[in-house]
Amino acid sequence: MFKSLSILGALAVVVGAEFTVIARRENPPTGFSRVGSSAADQTLNLRLALVQKNISGLQDTVYGVSTPGSSRYGQYLSKEEVEAYVAPTDDSVSQVNAWLASNNLTSSPMTSAGDWIAVNMSVSQANQLFAADFSTFQNEDTNQTVHRTLSYSVPRTLRASIKAVHPTTTFPVTLERKLSSSVANTTATTTKAAPLRASITPDCILSWTPACFQALYGIPSTPAAPAANVFAVAGFQNDFANLRDVQAFLQTFRPDLNPNPTVTLISVDDGINNQLPAGAGPITINMEIATALTNGVSVAYISTGSVDNDIFSEFLDEANFLVSSPNLPQTIVQPGTYRESLISPEIAESLCNSYAQLAARGVSYIMATGLWGAGGPGPLPNCVPFDAPFPASCPFVTAVGGTEWTTDDTAEAAWSPSGGGFSRIFSRPKYQDEVVPAYLSTIGATPSSPFNISGRGIPDLAAMNQATYIDQGVTRTDSSGTDNSATIFASMIALLTNERIAAGKPGLGFLNPLIYQNKGAFNDISAAIGESSACQRVFFNGTTGWDPVTGFGSPSYTKLQEVCNKL
Ligand SMILES: *[C@@H]1O[C@H](CO)[C@@H](O)[C@H](O)[C@H]1NC(C)=O
Ligand SMILES: *[C@@H]1O[C@H](CO)[C@@H](O)[C@H](O)[C@H]1NC(C)=O
Ligand SMILES: *[C@@H]1O[C@H](CO)[C@@H](O)[C@H](O)[C@H]1NC(C)=O
Ligand SMILES: *[C@@H]1O[C@H](CO)[C@@H](O)[C@H](O)[C@H]1NC(C)=O
Ligand SMILES: *[C@@H]1O[C@H](CO)[C@@H](O)[C@H](O)[C@H]1NC(C)=O
Ligand SMILES: *[C@@H]1O[C@H](CO)[C@@H](O)[C@H](O)[C@H]1NC(C)=O
Ligand SMILES: *[C@@H]1O[C@H](CO)[C@@H](O)[C@H](O)[C@H]1NC(C)=O
Repeated sequence: MFKSLSILGALAVVVGAEFTVIARRENPPTGFSRVGSSAADQTLNLRLALVQKNISGLQDTVYGVSTPGSSRYGQYLSKEEVEAYVAPTDDSVSQVNAWLASNNLTSSPMTSAGDWIAVNMSVSQANQLFAADFSTFQNEDTNQTVHRTLSYSVPRTLRASIKAVHPTTTFPVTLERKLSSSVANTTATTTKAAPLRASITPDCILSWTPACFQALYGIPSTPAAPAANVFAVAGFQNDFANLRDVQAFLQTFRPDLNPNPTVTLISVDDGINNQLPAGAGPITINMEIATALTNGVSVAYISTGSVDNDIFSEFLDEANFLVSSPNLPQTIVQPGTYRESLISPEIAESLCNSYAQLAARGVSYIMATGLWGAGGPGPLPNCVPFDAPFPASCPFVTAVGGTEWTTDDTAEAAWSPSGGGFSRIFSRPKYQDEVVPAYLSTIGATPSSPFNISGRGIPDLAAMNQATYIDQGVTRTDSSGTDNSATIFASMIALLTNERIAAGKPGLGFLNPLIYQNKGAFNDISAAIGESSACQRVFFNGTTGWDPVTGFGSPSYTKLQEVCNKL
């Protein structure tokens, strides 16, 4: 059956009748070039996403348990209830296993539902089994090489059982996190000021400390009541939170707190939290913000170990570790992001479905939107205009963009590099059906606009991008990134969740239906005080109401608290 495939090699060859193409790219993403064929005996650690029994049923259920006013609001599912929706059918499992066995291969499950399986095989086997052409591609920025294929297929009889295979057409990049001044070009037109509404002190303009975030967004400093509530910061790529710096930060900026918070380590793929001074990574800043803003909430660090130099595999492993865990943090913040153009849509959907499983179980998953405005990754010549950030574009997570303080020091404005725009993979979710078309009509968007007018709009909200931090004992004020924004907002959600759990109520779960019902809980970042730059030439403008630069604007703790108290 597979013999005819030995003549396949070049992409242009049409796959024989027994095969169905799952994904195909014409070229590698901008910034990668093909060096040559991969060695036939090179081992590939492949992850197969099997087709889930009833993913649309799960997605409907997520909206039911997450939409205030719904009869099922707050009735989160158990791990087993979720698994009943996402497990593959017995037929799928036996057909895939029989196919692998006939090729002398075995698989091992990667989730307890069995919807993801791991299979190791050589490049020559993978080329045959998936009608692929695994090749070596080089990242032009880093010179790092990876084995990928521009196209892959499965036997037609297995298409109903196999949704996607990774790594195939998804290309790895360094996580988009912090602004590096050598590459960013922020020509923001931060001109018109909105009235000063927050009681921040002038010192905040120079140094954004926890006290500034508390003043700006009304975040309480009183201790949270004891509650079974965990707030987790997720780190990847051997990023380590240095606890000595966290301690110094608390001593300096929250002297009222216990300077030694217990940060529980949740280890994925043998991830550690290395405390050697040289091991301190940018996640330390997020951990400093998280512990300083959530007085009394249990904090955890989810450390995903390095996997094949592929951050995307790490995202998959982290999410699949969590869906297989009996106990979950109520709030998770993920600081880094990727771009949709680098990902195969099937794989993005599969990962997004894992986030949907977490949403069904009541997790608030909060994602940063990255750095490159409405395009990315990186500046010209390699950026792709209107390339949405992922996982922020997954409709089952909350996407947080960045704000800044205007140059005339009077108002919060959109931060020009903040990631945003419209997804080319995920269609607009129902909760955006009112506000996104309203925005699109204000800018006169049409189906021929260079972005996807039917895609999920990003972000949902925004918060301050700058933060003061301590690195190796030294106080610095130069951290810029939507990871800071996302961590500030996630800290607020962790506190609000704590209030609810301490009162015997369920946590807040997937937040977006609540957010879109309560735009009044956000400080609108209005017209003409910011823009989202992309590729230094195309951009979106902020407007009154939702926009793809700051979403509904920045959060107000007291207003969100009023909303939560009525639930
Ligand atoms: C899928 O889930 C939905 C929602 O729970 C349910 O109504 C539907 O019957 C399920 N479909 C199948 C085929 O099990
Ligand atoms: C599987 O292994 C058996 C025994 O080693 C061998 O005869 C057979 O050719 C192998 N089949 C494939 C598809 O590699
Ligand atoms: C695949 O190989 C890795 C080592 O590279 C090993 O840790 C893993 O257990 C193998 N998985 C399977 C399913 O054989
Ligand atoms: C990549 O390789 C080129 C050519 O050998 C070299 O000039 C460049 O410095 C390398 N870049 C990095 C980041 O190592
Ligand atoms: C930044 O972009 C502006 C407008 O595109 C351009 O005039 C300027 O030269 C750029 N600056 C840098 C440092 O690239
Ligand atoms: C727009 O998004 C939808 C999914 O929502 C997708 O099917 C479609 O291909 C996208 N269109 C463009 C032009 O990217
Ligand atoms: C944003 O505003 C600028 C300046 O007014 C305009 O040139 C640009 O087309 C606008 N962008 C969009 C996406 O409407």
